[in-house]
Amino acid sequence: MGQPAVSPPAAPPGASSCSGCHARSANGHSIPSLQGLSAPDILGALQAFRNGEREATVMGRIAKGFTDGEMRAIAEWLARGDE
Ligand code: HEC
Repeated sequence: MGQPAVSPPAAPPGASSCSGCHARSANGHSIPSLQGLSAPDILGALQAFRNGEREATVMGRIAKGFTDGEMRAIAEWLARGDE
């Protein structure tokens, strides 16, 4: 079978804001690239930032703005790497 004929779905709410900081390639600043992370990696990191389990400068505040469902949708979308 070939490639699926459907076009990729649009970014879920909130996901487009992530790439403003997390550019596709490492940018030499202190912001890690999300390339190569799986959806569970991204979801787990967001939840740890939100709970305060993981040290953060900005991600704790950002993660507090999303529900679990929104985080899951964003994580799955980012992990596909179509941004
Ligand atoms: C204002 C800039 C900024 C925005 C916007 C931003 N991030 Fe981050 N992100 C960071 C920084 C800086 C870190 C390093 C941890 C810290 O200091 O908060 C980070 C860390 C992460 C990590 C951990 C990466 C790793 O290697 O473990 C994940 C996952 C992540 N961000 C996901 C997201 C997602 C998803 C969004 C969109 C909802 C987002 N970020 C939006 C700046 C940003």
